[in-house]
Amino acid sequence: MSDTEIGQIGFIGFGKMADSIVGALRPSMGSEPFRFISRTDESRRRGVDRGGIDCNDSPAQLFERSDIVVIAVTPQDLDDVATLFSLRPEPVIVSLLAGISTDRIRTVTGSQRVCRMIPNIAAAKRRSVVGMCFAETADDECRTRAHALAAELGTPLPIPERLMPAATGIGGSGLAFAFRFAHALALGGVAEGMTYEQASRAAAAVLDGAAAMLLDGCHAGQLETDVASPAGTTIEGLQRLDEDGFTAAVMHAVRAASKKARSFEADLTRN
Ligand SMILES: NC(=O)c1ccc[n+]([C@@H]2O[C@H](COP(=O)([O-])OP(=O)(O)OC[C@H]3O[C@@H](n4cnc5c(N)ncnc54)[C@H](OP(=O)(O)O)[C@@H]3O)[C@@H](O)[C@H]2O)c1
Repeated sequence: MSDTEIGQIGFIGFGKMADSIVGALRPSMGSEPFRFISRTDESRRRGVDRGGIDCNDSPAQLFERSDIVVIAVTPQDLDDVATLFSLRPEPVIVSLLAGISTDRIRTVTGSQRVCRMIPNIAAAKRRSVVGMCFAETADDECRTRAHALAAELGTPLPIPERLMPAATGIGGSGLAFAFRFAHALALGGVAEGMTYEQASRAAAAVLDGAAAMLLDGCHAGQLETDVASPAGTTIEGLQRLDEDGFTAAVMHAVRAASKKARSFEADLTRN
């Protein structure tokens, strides 16, 4: 989708996620600036370096010039930025905050036009999965702009709001789990005599190949069986993986991350 459907984009908070989103949009934005507000000099400098206009001294500009305002602070910092939303009653809001419901975002921002997204930092390569859901009150403009943004970041995954914690566990945190797996694969190669660089390149190519086959719609269990020839090397390794608790460990990791996402809302409501 074109950048005109996204429109002008502004950020509240310019950390890793906002930076990744700008990385994805930059080719279609050309030299078009984006506007942002952040906290420390360091993140403000980073935003300016990436072609942004620092609106800390004039937040009104951010709201006046942005068709979408992306909230990209941590969930714990949401209340600190709440006062900014008195500047414009109905911006299209995209919240990246793990575990914070559309209802809460509507209350804090006063906007009915709210989308929640859970991307990951592979957005910088336009290869993020983007779990997304909308407030019931979101209008067509909100839905069109948000879908256009998600499509620029990778693969949109529209889901009911109750599944957003699961999307956080698999899509947001799962990228780190994949990096941990890649690192472990590479370390195995090092133990067998490769340099870390050789082994890491091999691990990346393996994950790339696996992802391509999965994205063709193949079933992971079927693919795994296809690789494991009778009495061969792979089945030895697969047996060892599960003796060492691999499947349970990965499932536990996804469930722990999802549980933490659910707990943010509860914690913030209590405080
Ligand atoms: N990282 C991921 O892979 C990922 C995935 C899915 C969802 N998310 C969500 O995306 C959001 C951002 O994550 P992140 O990884 O980008 O975090 P981050 O790197 O810590 O960035 C947060 C940014 O918010 C700024 N900020 C904090 N309080 C502020 C305030 N009061 N006013 C203005 N700016 C403020 C921080 O500024 P300073 O740096 O100057 O302190 C920082 O630039 C989080 O809510 C997270 O749940 C992240």
